[in-house]
Amino acid sequence: VVVVLDFGGQYNQLIARRVRENNVYCEIFSYRTELDVIRKLSPKGIILTGGPSSCYDKNAATYSTELFSMGIPVLGLCYGAQLMMHLLGGSVGPAQIREYGKTEVFIDNTSSPIFKGIDSPTICWMSHFDYIKKVAQGFEITAHSEDCPVAAAENNEKRLYALQFHAEVLHTEYGGMMIKNFLRDICGCSGNWRMDTFAEEAVKGIKEKVAGGRALCALSGGVDSSVAAVMMSRAIGTRLTCVFVDHGLLRKNEADEVESVFGPNGPYKLNFIRIDAKQRFYNKLKGVTDPEKKRKIIGEEFIHVFEEEAKKIGEVDFLVQGTIYPDVVESGFGGESAVIKSHHNVGGLPEHVDFKEIIEPLRDLFKDEVRKVGLELGIPENLVFRQPFPGPGLGIRIIGEVTPEKVDILQNADAIYREEIEKAGLSRKIGQYFAALTNMKSVGVMGDERTYDYAVALRAVNTIDFMTAEAAEIPWEVLCRITSRIINEVNQVNRVVYDLTGKPPGTIELE
Ligand code: XMP
Repeated sequence: VVVVLDFGGQYNQLIARRVRENNVYCEIFSYRTELDVIRKLSPKGIILTGGPSSCYDKNAATYSTELFSMGIPVLGLCYGAQLMMHLLGGSVGPAQIREYGKTEVFIDNTSSPIFKGIDSPTICWMSHFDYIKKVAQGFEITAHSEDCPVAAAENNEKRLYALQFHAEVLHTEYGGMMIKNFLRDICGCSGNWRMDTFAEEAVKGIKEKVAGGRALCALSGGVDSSVAAVMMSRAIGTRLTCVFVDHGLLRKNEADEVESVFGPNGPYKLNFIRIDAKQRFYNKLKGVTDPEKKRKIIGEEFIHVFEEEAKKIGEVDFLVQGTIYPDVVESGFGGESAVIKSHHNVGGLPEHVDFKEIIEPLRDLFKDEVRKVGLELGIPENLVFRQPFPGPGLGIRIIGEVTPEKVDILQNADAIYREEIEKAGLSRKIGQYFAALTNMKSVGVMGDERTYDYAVALRAVNTIDFMTAEAAEIPWEVLCRITSRIINEVNQVNRVVYDLTGKPPGTIELE
């Protein structure tokens, strides 16, 4: 096992993700975990994550210095690197120039085992306000950047490695290789752990947990809840009821499509209930413009609908949700992470839920891992590779107040966008793409008439894990065709814009 010691940064779980990608099993522990607990695991390596504090502050997250003298290789990333230096006698302080974003890093020692196979300079993702002023005794500086004299340092004899940048983030060009070098060459991990037993074990675990009980599954038709539902139905068969709520914020024709797959005429033997709750959601959302409030309202209303449905069904012990790990982290549940946005499945829960327990079978997985599990469960590819669609649906793609009229506009624009992307053969090449309705009206001219209508934003991103993303390149002529079709065919839209923002600094959804 490799231990990831969590100091509460935004990318913590990504580190675990990168480790697992190398078929090395890893577990995440809070920095509050006693050293003895870690020692008993006999980890092959330890990775210290980033974190939001300054390691020299009195109340900063810290750890026992003994960690570094157990003979176990340690890799410190960002805050982890600074903490390593700080604890071992180096010096860390506020940097004169904060580095943020893609940064050129110059490797000073090309024979460093961490940088094996990597040429200098190399692009790395920096995000820090403190820097290592002086390395601890026994350490050698192995890389620097223009503004950061210690981008990497190591004590190779003791197998301690400090990287100021985030090797776990995909923007660090060779970050994956650095982590691989650490795991394979430095820790000696063989890389023989595989994901294929996950589904089987999870199904077994669910069986035991639910015992003879009944479960209610919140099915949205998206990848996550579909995989969760099929997993649950494998485990407990017809003691699972799937409730599909049409909250009026779905894509065009989506409700019917979901019913055709999971309903009585579909391939699965699910108890499937479809509820039309459109008006209920529109009423609650009337006049609400704050994104966090909208998310909370949609999430809560969702749960209320489920609670009511559960009562009709009778005794229901468990509520199943398709929450995945990025939802958990970004809702502020990943150690010390700040709340970026309340994800529908996590932060939106009301305080009094009428269920004994919530089951989230995919809570520890990233999207690409969920897809792998889906394929292992025999779910058809077209469903597994379906576009991800957030729980709050079009509610967070309509900036500002949600009205049925705006939903209608967006559904039509989005349908055209998706149709054209599919026609152009790009649907599997883009991670996620959708239209959003901006809250902006602008002046245009159509025919001989002045118009004053909405602007639709097209979003398309490429991403592996949805924690970071880059705007996708769509051929110009495809963009032009989409633009003119939307403006010609969708009433009340006179302008189409293309959103080029990456994540960070943007998020994928607009709210
Ligand atoms: P963001 O906007 O946070 O999106 O960069 C990352 C991924 O998560 C999806 N998303 C959600 N999924 N409930 C969900 O189930 C939510 O509340 C939610 N918000 C965002 C988003 O579509 C993207 O794939």
